[in-house]
Amino acid sequence: MAMTVEAPRSPIAARKSTNWEKWGWIYMRASGVVLVVLIFGHLFSNLIATPGGVHAIDFGFVGGKLANPFWQWWDVAMLWLALIHGANGMRTIVNDYISRPGLAKGLKLALFLSAAILIILGTLVVFTFDPCPAGADPSLVASFCPVP
Ligand code: HEM
Repeated sequence: MAMTVEAPRSPIAARKSTNWEKWGWIYMRASGVVLVVLIFGHLFSNLIATPGGVHAIDFGFVGGKLANPFWQWWDVAMLWLALIHGANGMRTIVNDYISRPGLAKGLKLALFLSAAILIILGTLVVFTFDPCPAGADPSLVASFCPVP
């Protein structure tokens, strides 16, 4: 008598859970493409389009860029995409090379925490940076800030 063996993964069971490894794989390629544009745009703007190139980069230059919403969003996109890309890439390396489960777990937790902390701090810096804070000691602020 002929017997039919059920497929090990029925389409319904496969549909139920998200395949995070697949989305991680796609994220590495998609973020890589966007990062090429963001990183080369960043280098072009800072080093080639700016008169004086690298010698013109100082506190005032960065303060001016971070006062512009276009560059704020450019920098934040670069920060988030690169940190998640880098941390996920390092997670892949840990999975490939660390065989002790406890050590692998600890390293992946450290990767997650360092990326999360840097993303939060970096985003706060970009959106709250004020080169001339009101009420600050005039001897501590940049020379271009208006004297109170
Ligand atoms: C120019 C922009 C970038 C492009 C086009 C790019 C592209 C890629 C791609 C396609 C992979 C997957 C490789 C694989 O699965 O075999 C990858 C892996 C990785 N990327 Fe990037 N990346 C870029 C920027 C960055 C940056 C800025 C960082 C660091 C913050 C970074 C860190 C990593 C790491 C750690 C891996 C894992 C390496 C491995 O699996 O051996 N990448 N990158």
